[in-house]
Amino acid sequence: MSAYPDVMDTLVSLAKRRGFIFQSSEIYGGTGSVWDYGPLGVELKNNVKARWWQAMVRERDDVEGLDAAILMHPKVWEASGHVSGFSDPLVDCKACKARFRADKIGEAVCPRKPSKKPGEHGDCQLTEPRMFNLMFKTFMGPVEESASVVYLRPETAQGIFVNFLNVQQATRQKVPFGIAQIGKAFRNEITPGNFTFRTREFEQMEMQFFVEPGTDMEWFERWKAARLEWHLGLGLSRDRLEFHQHEPNELAHYARAAFDINFDFGGTLGFQEIEGVHNRSDFDLKQHQEHSGKRLEYVDQAANKRYLPYVIETSVGADRVTLATLVNALREEVVPGETEGRTLLALHPAIAPIKAGVFPLTKKDGQPEMAEKLAAALRKKFPVFYDEAGAIGRRYRRQDEAGTPFGITIDPSSTANDDVTIRFRDDMGQIRVSTSKVAQVIGDYLAADHATAEASKAGV
Ligand code: GAP
Repeated sequence: MSAYPDVMDTLVSLAKRRGFIFQSSEIYGGTGSVWDYGPLGVELKNNVKARWWQAMVRERDDVEGLDAAILMHPKVWEASGHVSGFSDPLVDCKACKARFRADKIGEAVCPRKPSKKPGEHGDCQLTEPRMFNLMFKTFMGPVEESASVVYLRPETAQGIFVNFLNVQQATRQKVPFGIAQIGKAFRNEITPGNFTFRTREFEQMEMQFFVEPGTDMEWFERWKAARLEWHLGLGLSRDRLEFHQHEPNELAHYARAAFDINFDFGGTLGFQEIEGVHNRSDFDLKQHQEHSGKRLEYVDQAANKRYLPYVIETSVGADRVTLATLVNALREEVVPGETEGRTLLALHPAIAPIKAGVFPLTKKDGQPEMAEKLAAALRKKFPVFYDEAGAIGRRYRRQDEAGTPFGITIDPSSTANDDVTIRFRDDMGQIRVSTSKVAQVIGDYLAADHATAEASKAGV
């Protein structure tokens, strides 16, 4: 049990109300554990992905980008071990038709009596566990026969392995170097749930770093540290993050060593994996070399040797880490002097979907015109929301809940003196800024990752 409260129900309803995340095909009763990102959600997730791409590809000269296809040759999944090994043990209850993962049955509840575990209720009729492959199958071409079976990829990594030599030769990178990509992955999970935490369609941000065997554990440690720093830079609280080392019995079929980066989601969910850092040895390249019959060795001309590199993988779920940023950011506060509290998403300014709200204090005296002009100018630089409806306090609250870090208010003094108030979401402090400097000041705050008036006193 986490020291943090369970905010999932509050978050699910806020996410729907404000347009972050909707259930897929909701008007038809919803699709099991598939979610759609609304206007605010798509901005938030895009910002998370852009930040990852910036850190992993653009700021490094030893990592190249890739966007491989979802559908791959079926032999890829034989070589990778997914056809034979990517399975979970499944148990059915013949009485209530519920399905459980046999290895997680201790965490499940009996649908007929939630105070009991599956198997403990008098009516339960559990089957013996049987292995269930998590890959979605489909057919390529018009004929639905076994020869045309293809899979929706269950991880993006294999697109990188099969392109290892293409990328290396095209870019003339020398080992050690990495290949990174962001893309959809699909798993027919037996027990999806907890909102977007475990879904059947999700996005991964994966990077495979190819190193000379013998240097792998050193790179493994480096990437572990770098990835934890990235999560901290996203604004996740340090005390909500921890490493979890995989014991030999937990290791995936390809892994030589593995650490998860876990985030504390609060309540009974507590610490759960958001990213895996794996030492995959030369498992994948060796498998693809054998199954394809193509040599995938790296030729080190300077040292006059050739070898199959080892791979250090960093693999993070875009949806899961986006959910972590929302859980981390959600606050319900009492506001001194006010009867109603406020709900805010104290998101890191860089990933906030909307950067600034622009509000004329009243709908007269030229304030809306001045505010609309300012909003239009700012929109060229970052996402802005213009709102002139309702009391100013309510408009602030609406943007607090959307995670908007800055509120810009145009009041009677603005039209006279050509200046505005910038209100800070997190501490509700305010500063006065000349209109011509607003874009610059907010830009500086965004670049410096600050969103409090307190920070402004210390100088951005
Ligand atoms: N290529 C290695 C790999 O796929 P993984 O631990 O199975 O490793 C990596 O997945 C990350 O992908 C996880 O840490 C998680 O963030 C995300 N992920 C995996 N399955 C998921 C699911 N069903 N729903 C949402 N995210 C998932």
